[in-house]
Amino acid sequence: MQPAATALKTTDAEVRQFPIPANVHAETVVSVKHYTDRLFSFRITRPQSFRFRSGEFVMIGLPNAEKPVFRAYSIASPAWDDEIEFFSIKVPDGPLTSELQKIQPGDTVLMRQKATGTLVVDALTPGKRLFMISTGTGIAPFASLVRDPDTYEKFEEVILTHTCRDHAELRYGEELFDQAANDPLIGEVAAGRLTHYCTTTREISPRMGRITRLIENGKLYADLGIPPLDPATDRVMICGSMSMLKDVKELVESLGFTEGSLNHPAEFVVERAFVG
Ligand code: A2P
Repeated sequence: MQPAATALKTTDAEVRQFPIPANVHAETVVSVKHYTDRLFSFRITRPQSFRFRSGEFVMIGLPNAEKPVFRAYSIASPAWDDEIEFFSIKVPDGPLTSELQKIQPGDTVLMRQKATGTLVVDALTPGKRLFMISTGTGIAPFASLVRDPDTYEKFEEVILTHTCRDHAELRYGEELFDQAANDPLIGEVAAGRLTHYCTTTREISPRMGRITRLIENGKLYADLGIPPLDPATDRVMICGSMSMLKDVKELVESLGFTEGSLNHPAEFVVERAFVG
């Protein structure tokens, strides 16, 4: 009698290989950059057929189990990019990130076929200024949007705020901003229209404090020399931890902003920064 076929193959070298699940792209890691012991970014190849809107997220996983663990990750690269970029936290005992943080160029990352999400410009009604409020890895969808010329077609000014515990955690955003400024396509369209405002909460820096406090006490506006948030002219996108989302949402609602979605575009949209 033939032995039953098993999903698990054992190669000559005793390397266990699991089959790639159906409806999943298996992509190759192109580069990895570690920023701190909590944060890293990586880029993978992009399947030709994969389409997404800047600001959306997709489920990713690793081919290290028969039933891989998938987690939602905001795509940090813009829709026109040939590669897909992600910015991730490292959770020591996280079901995915404990392994994901070990990836090297040439390794395989699995990606589901459909991207989705609410941090897209079409979920907002037209406005003049677009505020992107982020903490930690919540900057990822905005890294996509600030590098997309479409964003500047819809808004005259883009103000990206990023708050982290310390300066080392702000580095990804600083590099993003420098890269965008020097990019032949984005540098020109964003010139004089993209502002990057970063603050720290646990390390002394020129700008300190949670963004909620800096909006409430007017320091954000004073530092940038701009008029306060106004639902008549401004739109807001928010991405960060659950408690940050709750507080910033309450804050903008108290200023008269209403929450939108793709089906009902309005004045602000919210997405949780994903961990796992
Ligand atoms: P804090 O240091 O005061 O907690 P984390 O790395 O824990 O996700 O936090 C990222 C940044 O978000 C930190 O600077 C943190 O400030 C800030 N933060 C956390 N909770 C809130 C909140 N409810 N509102 C505004 N900022 C917050």
